[in-house]
Amino acid sequence: MGAGRDGDVDGVGPVATGTAHAKAILIGEHAVVYGHPAIALPLIPLRTTARLRTVPGPLSARHGDQRVRVEDLPEAFAPVGVAVTAALAHFGLPGDDLEIELDSDIPPGAGLGASAASAHAIVEAVRVHAGQDLDEEARFELVQTAERVAHGNPSGLDARATRARTPVAFTGGVTSDVDLGGSFSFAVADTGVRSPTRDAVAGVRRFVEAEPDRGSELLERLAALTRAAGRDLGAGHIEDLGAHLDAAQEALDALGVGHPAIDRLLAAARAAGAAGAKLTGAGRGGCVIAVADSPERAAEIVTAMRDVGAVGGWVVTAGGR
Ligand code: MEV
Repeated sequence: MGAGRDGDVDGVGPVATGTAHAKAILIGEHAVVYGHPAIALPLIPLRTTARLRTVPGPLSARHGDQRVRVEDLPEAFAPVGVAVTAALAHFGLPGDDLEIELDSDIPPGAGLGASAASAHAIVEAVRVHAGQDLDEEARFELVQTAERVAHGNPSGLDARATRARTPVAFTGGVTSDVDLGGSFSFAVADTGVRSPTRDAVAGVRRFVEAEPDRGSELLERLAALTRAAGRDLGAGHIEDLGAHLDAAQEALDALGVGHPAIDRLLAAARAAGAAGAKLTGAGRGGCVIAVADSPERAAEIVTAMRDVGAVGGWVVTAGGR
């Protein structure tokens, strides 16, 4: 995350900025909502920047030429209003005469943590404007306040992973560094299908309530696969990691968060040499992640997924070169 304060822009007051990046969950999504572990990777090239300006009038958000009072933001943008309002309140600052604007490369509703990254960027911009320090837990809580409006019952994984610079394990609300015993390359691609995280999480909840035995069996299976994936990362075992990702996809499918567009990209990834692949994030669309034995192979996998309809694709590396 970066931050800064620029000079006057176009006659309005100084700009305080905050930035944050996207994340991809390697394994453990959905199960993490039930207290099981998960592992996530930062997607540092995909970023959101928040700019806070002093502009006369009520606290507002800018979208292109439009300026909307924060309290009048449509539901989809309500988390932006919550993040800026909560952060200003935290620092004891009034909201009048301020305007927030977001600029993001992170596709929304695609499972890459767009809402958590926006909240982090906003909180950081307000912190810069306040000229005060903010400890990690207070920062996390402010982001979670916005995430609760965006997702209902967020595990906190997105809020942690969009702040991390290296892969993180998340267990019982606590993050820790992941040991990497080799160099891993990942291909992440976007199906272009949009599905709110809130709906996917609610769908899994309905499944688990309707079929408690099968539901907890699948969540336990995801937990065991996540622990195995952590060991694979530590040992540098790409093929084993791939097999565990494939198995996690089966469990996620069984929980009802698959989608034909996901299947299409996963098939293309495997045919292009992925060691394994699965959806990443809430599913029912959104993005997929595949593991490969080199960045070059990961780039080929991204191309193969684009050839079958992916609307975006990125290579992420962790450990080693
Ligand atoms: C969303 O990126 C990940 C989920 O596990 C929800 C959450 O952790 O809050 C589906």
